Amino acid sequence: MEGGRSSRRWRFASPNPAVAAAGERSVRRYLLDLHGCLDERGPRPVIPLSVGDPSSCPSFRTAPEAVEAVATALRSGEFDGYPSRDTNLAARRAVAEYLSCDLPYKLSPDDVLLTSGCTQAIETVMSVFGQPGVNILLPRPGYPKHEAHAVFHKMEVRHYDLVPERGWEVDLEAVEALADENTVAIVIINPNNPCGSVYTYEHLSKIADTANKLGMLVIADEVYGHLVYGSTPFVPMGVFGETVPLLTLGAISKRWAVPGWRFGWIAICDQKCILKETKVFHSLRSFRMLTGDPATFVLFMTGYN
Ligand SMILES: Cc1ncc(COP(=O)(O)O)c(C=O)c1O
Repeated sequence: MEGGRSSRRWRFASPNPAVAAAGERSVRRYLLDLHGCLDERGPRPVIPLSVGDPSSCPSFRTAPEAVEAVATALRSGEFDGYPSRDTNLAARRAVAEYLSCDLPYKLSPDDVLLTSGCTQAIETVMSVFGQPGVNILLPRPGYPKHEAHAVFHKMEVRHYDLVPERGWEVDLEAVEALADENTVAIVIINPNNPCGSVYTYEHLSKIADTANKLGMLVIADEVYGHLVYGSTPFVPMGVFGETVPLLTLGAISKRWAVPGWRFGWIAICDQKCILKETKVFHSLRSFRMLTGDPATFVLFMTGYN
C-alpha cells in the first residue's frame, strides 16, 4: 500500500543497537528469563535467591529518625526544588564523615560525588573510563550491571575468577595474566554479591599491591558495606588509598534498607593525588554535571543532624 505502514521509511527506526545489547546483560533481563522458565504452581516451591531489596522483608526497616527527617523535609516545603549548594555540601560532608570513620585518613566533601543509588555510581565510572581500546577486569561470578555498563561504554571486559576453595577470593594470578597496558581498572565487590563472601584485610592489601604493580585503578563496589553475617569484619578498600588510587561506590540502599530512596556516592580515595594529576578527578566531576542529583529531600535527610 503506497504511503502505508509497510512502505513508509522512518528515519529514526534504527536506534543505537548498543542500548538493546546492554539491556540484555542486565539483572532484570536474567530474572525475567528465569521466571519465564518457572512454574510457580508446580510441586516444588520456588525459593527466591535473587532478592536484593531488604525492604521487601518486614523485619528490615530503616531508622525511624531517617523517616522523620524525610517527612520533616517534605512537610517544610523547602526541599521541593533542585538542591541548593548548601544542601548538597551538607550531604557530601555527611558521607565523607561517615566513610572516614573506618579510614586511617579523613575524606573531605570534595572527595565525594553524590549519585542516584550505586547504579548511577557504576554508570558514572564506566562512562568516565569507557572508550574503544581499553579493557576492564570484572569478577566472575559478578554483578551484571558492571558488565552491561562497561560494554555499553565500549570497553572490553576481561573476567577474573573468584576462587570458591579460598572463600571466593580474587584469583590474583589470573588478574596478572589478564592485565595489559590497556587495562584501566579492576572492579571488586566487597562484601560480595552474589557469593556473600567478605574479604580479609590481608586479601584486600594484596589486591591493592597487585593493582599498584599493574598501574590500574581499583573500583570497589561496597554497596553491601557492613552487611556481614560471618566472623570476617568488613574492611573498606579505601584503607589502601595510600597504596593505589581507588574509587569506592556505595549507597544507603542495603544497609539502611531503602533502595527506593536512590541515594549513593562515589568516594575518591586518592592519598597520593594520582587521580587529580591524571584528570580522572576532573572527568568524574564533569560527568556529574550531565546527570541529575538524588532527590533533594533525601539529600537534606542525609546531611541533617
Ligand atoms: C553489587 C551491587 N552493586 C550495585 C547495586 C545497585 O545498588 P543501588 O540499588 O543502590 O543502585 C546492587 C544491587 O543489588 C548490587 O548488588
